[in-house]
Amino acid sequence: MKPEYRRKNKIMEQKLLLSQLATDTLKGLSSNRKYLLSKYFYDDQGSRIFQDIMNMPEYYLTDCEHEIFSFQKEEITGAICDDFLGFNLVELGSGDGMKTKILLKHLVEKSIHFQYMPVDISAKANNELVESLKSEIPDLQVEAKIGDYFRKLKDLNGHASIPKIILFLGSNIGNFSDSETEAFLHQLSAYTNSGDKVLIGFDLKKSPKTIMDAYNDPHGHTRRFNLNHLVRLNRELDSDFNVGQFEQHTVYDPKTGDVKSYLVSKSEQKVHIGALEQDFHFRQWETIFMERSRKFDLPTIEKLAEKS
Ligand code: AVI
Repeated sequence: MKPEYRRKNKIMEQKLLLSQLATDTLKGLSSNRKYLLSKYFYDDQGSRIFQDIMNMPEYYLTDCEHEIFSFQKEEITGAICDDFLGFNLVELGSGDGMKTKILLKHLVEKSIHFQYMPVDISAKANNELVESLKSEIPDLQVEAKIGDYFRKLKDLNGHASIPKIILFLGSNIGNFSDSETEAFLHQLSAYTNSGDKVLIGFDLKKSPKTIMDAYNDPHGHTRRFNLNHLVRLNRELDSDFNVGQFEQHTVYDPKTGDVKSYLVSKSEQKVHIGALEQDFHFRQWETIFMERSRKFDLPTIEKLAEKS
């Protein structure tokens, strides 16, 4: 694509995203139980804060996936490449690609013919990943895609002759509600062809203490991560959230496996959102539901696989 078209495309994508952010924010803050969508955590600053979360020793998910890829790369390779004619390895929400690099190196060392396609909403995270891949795995073929997962998958599905292996790692699936999980899996099956494969990282239920240590903010990063969402709204939707007037709170329910994160309004307050030309009223101690990080058990995963 010519650079000027690419630039125009990017501007259009940003405009679309902005209006979607405005619509979703209006819906969430007008609801009886206020909520914001966790997918909007990841602007450039949010992606940086998420790196800090992933680097905390208590956030066991990073090490777990690293360990799985280190110890089971051979088995994973066997499961995903049943012929060597070539495939596109599409990673949805690639972030810094830390654990994926272990698999990528292994595939390149085995001279397996494939192209890596990281798809991420954050241009900055994606560009940094591409730069690091150039120096760490110079023989790897990379075509990065910036934007919405399904729009990119739909485009790719047009090239049905090249099989796809789709990676959805990092327990990102845990951030969906039940209906979103089902919708996501159904959309995945709609944008895949016979013979394509999907590898999803689910985080399993475990000791509530281990989970709370990871999410209940031992270093203050989760608080910054949540408040950055409000900072983003201030910048992109011309709102006047006073972030000092909100505190972050996390709960875990071992029965459902849900970790839920809230921002709680410390006082009665009014917030104006310029882009929506509207005020939103917050009662003292009223909550905004910010994120769910679901932990699964095996029967639930099996049921999801059967259904989709
Ligand atoms: C991106 N996602 C899988 C993280 C999680 O564990 O749910 C986001 C996160 N939120 C707080 N800590 C980490």
